[in-house]
Amino acid sequence: MDLTDRPRRLRTDGLRPLVSETTLHETDLVAPVFVDATTDERVPIESMPGHERVPVDAAVERVSEVLETGVEAVIVFGIPESKDEQGSRAYASAGVVQEAVRRITAETDAYVITDVCLCEYTDHGHCGVLEPHAEDDPTLTVENEPTLDLLAKTAVSHAEAGADMVAPSAAMDGMVGAIREGLDAAGYSDIPIMSYAAKYESAFYGPFRDAADGAPAFGDRRHYQMNPANAREAMREVALDVEQGADVLMVKPGLPYLDIIRDIREAYDHPVAAYNVSGEYAMLHAAAEKGWLDLDGVAHESLLSLKRAGADLIITYFAESVAKTLSAGY
Ligand code: PBG
Ligand code: ZN
Repeated sequence: MDLTDRPRRLRTDGLRPLVSETTLHETDLVAPVFVDATTDERVPIESMPGHERVPVDAAVERVSEVLETGVEAVIVFGIPESKDEQGSRAYASAGVVQEAVRRITAETDAYVITDVCLCEYTDHGHCGVLEPHAEDDPTLTVENEPTLDLLAKTAVSHAEAGADMVAPSAAMDGMVGAIREGLDAAGYSDIPIMSYAAKYESAFYGPFRDAADGAPAFGDRRHYQMNPANAREAMREVALDVEQGADVLMVKPGLPYLDIIRDIREAYDHPVAAYNVSGEYAMLHAAAEKGWLDLDGVAHESLLSLKRAGADLIITYFAESVAKTLSAGY
C-alpha cells in the first residue's frame, strides 16, 4: 500500500496527549447542589445516584465535598418550606437559597451561582405567574411581564445573600434585561448573568423535576421553553439575551443540542455554558447499573464532547465523579 497520509502515526501513546485538541479540567465544571427546607436530613435523590437534597444546615458540608474534588463552582437550587401562587419564597430574604448562599459564601471559597426561576416555589409548578384561568385552558400559561418583576426580585435577593453569579432559567422574554436592571439598581452591577439562553422544552428534565419538586401541576412548558425542532430560533434567543446584557450564554440540555453549542460558539465571543441535564445523567447511570456501559468512560466522553462542540463551562451532575477520574489521570 502506498499511503502517504497515515493518521495513525499521531496515535501513539507519546503523541496522543500532545495532539489532543480538547482537554477537560475540573475547573470547567459546575456542580448542582439541592438545598431543601423541608428536611433536616440529607435525602438521596433516587433518579440521580450520588445526589441528595440537603438541609440548609448541611449546605456548607455538601459544598465542601464538591470542593475537595477540585471542582470550584456550584449552582444552588432550592426546595422551599412552602409554595404559593406567586412563588414568594423564591425572593424571600430568609428563603432556602438565600440562607444557604449566605452560609456557603461565608464559610467556603466556592464560586456560587444561583438558579433564578419560580417553578420550585409556585404551587402550580410553572416558571412564573399564571394567566387567569390557565388551569382550565390549555392555550394559556404564564404571564410574561408580571413574572419579570418577580425574577428580578429573586436575582437581587440572591445577590444580597452573596451569590457570585445568577442564572435565570425561566425562559421569559426580556428576562435578562429585567434582571440586569434590577441588579444594577440595587448596586450589583458587578454580578454577572449566565442566561439559560437556548433552553429547550425537553423530556430530559424528568429526574430534575422529581429532585427539585418543580414539575408543572398541569400542562407543560412549551409556551415558554423552546421547541426542540428549532436551531435558528436559538440564535434569535441568544441575540436578545446578549442585547440585554447576558455575560454567559447557556445551552440546555447539552448532548442532544451540540449543534446549538457550536452555532453559538461560532457567532459570539461570549463564554458558552452547556447544561448536561438530569436525564443525560440518569440514563448513563441506569445503563451502567445494568452493566451495559462503563460509567466513567461515558461520563468523561460526554463532557469532553460538550467542550469539543464549543462549551467553555459545563454544569453537570458528573462534576464530582469526573473530577475524581481526572485527578486519577483519566
Ligand atoms: C428550572 C430548571 C429546570 C432545570 C434547571 N432549572 C427544570 C425545567 O426547566 O423544567 C433542569 C435541569 C436538569 O434537568 O438537570 N426552570
Ligand atoms: Zn422554572
